[in-house]
Amino acid sequence: MNPQKRLLTGAKPSGDIHIGNYLGMMRPVLELQDNYETFVFVADFHALNQIQDPKEMHRLSLEIAKAYIAIGLDTSKVTLFRQSDVPKHAELTWILNTLTPMSLLELAHAYKDAVAKGKPVHVGLFDYPVLMAADIILYDTQIVPVGSDQKQHVEIARELVRYFNRIFGATFVEPQELIREEVGIIPGLDGRKMSKSYGNVIGLFDSPEKTKERVMTIVTDSRGQNDPKDPATCNIFALHKFFSADILSELDTRYREGTISYKESKEILAENLNAYLAPIRAKKAELDANEDQVLAILETGRQKAEALASEKMKLVRERCGFRA
Ligand code: TRP
Repeated sequence: MNPQKRLLTGAKPSGDIHIGNYLGMMRPVLELQDNYETFVFVADFHALNQIQDPKEMHRLSLEIAKAYIAIGLDTSKVTLFRQSDVPKHAELTWILNTLTPMSLLELAHAYKDAVAKGKPVHVGLFDYPVLMAADIILYDTQIVPVGSDQKQHVEIARELVRYFNRIFGATFVEPQELIREEVGIIPGLDGRKMSKSYGNVIGLFDSPEKTKERVMTIVTDSRGQNDPKDPATCNIFALHKFFSADILSELDTRYREGTISYKESKEILAENLNAYLAPIRAKKAELDANEDQVLAILETGRQKAEALASEKMKLVRERCGFRA
């Protein structure tokens, strides 16, 4: 245990949660929560760049909170809160904006991608990394577990810490990203990275029937029932690695010997996936029926986060010459 080390991660409510989100960013936090003082927040200010429907914002924000609780986040230890419940994130963003060179943000991948695709770029998208920096440094976060796509954002946060500290005196801690390389890329139904935008996802909270239906559409090559098959290039096998660990070597042998069809492999996967997810889905259903419990957890989280944020912003405001 490293209780003096603080870890924070944010999850943007961007759509219904799929097993790629679960394996890639949510489950890893469960292993870290025992080793760090952990903060998890729903990045709803960030999500406003995409979601402009209040009901949907509310629903998707709660979905994330429920999902983390359902998978086993220990809310007696972890601070779980909504970003918009602590408006100091936005106040600090403004202050950091005044120190941020345009050229630093022009290098950011998300912005460059949007420009390359000819999408309209709003200031909120351009400024996304600064809000993310504020999220992180407001709590003196040392460790930020992220996917490799977010590495650059943590680097920008470090850069902004250096700017601020140089100009106003030592105030913020430089955060470090923790990239979970070993999780790797979670392939979707078509073998590309599982992503809502590709429509190749399996929902974490789908019904068992829907899950099976989705699994049966996993794209394979055309090898027949009794042909030897290559586990290394099979999209079904890639998911077995996560959900069929206890029979993986047996499956591997059957693939190579040609004693399993893709259909059977999919049926086994659907069954294992549903068995694995059953307790998580049951817990989620319980939370759906008892939303007040979720709101109470978020309120406790808000109070803890707000207290720390207030303390930090008092110092920041003093440093800037505002009434502290
Ligand atoms: N940008 C992150 C993502 O899309 C979400 C996020 C917002 C975040 N603020 C953060 C992650 C602070 C870690 C720390 O996944």
